[in-house]
Amino acid sequence: MRLSDRPLLTAAEIQARVAVLGKSISEEYRGKELTVVAVLKGGVVFVSDLIRQLQVPLTLEFIRARSYQGHLSQGIVELPVLPEQPLRGCHVLVVEDIVDTGRTTAAILDRLAAEQPASLALCCLLDKPARHIAPIRIQFVGFTIDDHFVVGYGLDYHERYRELPAIYVLQE
Ligand code: IMP
Repeated sequence: MRLSDRPLLTAAEIQARVAVLGKSISEEYRGKELTVVAVLKGGVVFVSDLIRQLQVPLTLEFIRARSYQGHLSQGIVELPVLPEQPLRGCHVLVVEDIVDTGRTTAAILDRLAAEQPASLALCCLLDKPARHIAPIRIQFVGFTIDDHFVVGYGLDYHERYRELPAIYVLQE
């Protein structure tokens, strides 16, 4: 496995898009207070840049999802880390690195919706619509990409490459 010679998305392209996303999100939530729920681990780099572009008061929480192939059923998603504060009545924005099949996102949204927030929306840096298996509504999307496996800017392959400032395609 090796990285593409050139980034799929350069650091400058990512930063420019994050600034635009920050503006749209700030407009959407103007006059409200936001609870940002970042998805560990991949969403950490993105959320740390994104919240610095937001012009609304916010609190930051984390959630972690782990999916595994169960013995009888496939694609079970566990949530070993959950937000510390109750979300009832809050305006919740889930911030994720990537939506691939959408299975993880669906499990996260279901779990958070059960807490009866005032609103629940999703912001992902990358979306791979060709891979979705369930319909997922994404209110804020950074980039729509083709069906590549990508690393960098928080995204890993076996825990590596998260530190890269740009996003690369992992090639055979
Ligand atoms: P899901 O298929 O949408 O449930 O995605 C599950 C998880 O797989 C994502 O949250 C990412 O952590 C990981 N993932 C999916 N596609 C990629 C990729 O292209 N690069 C790195 N991680 C990925």
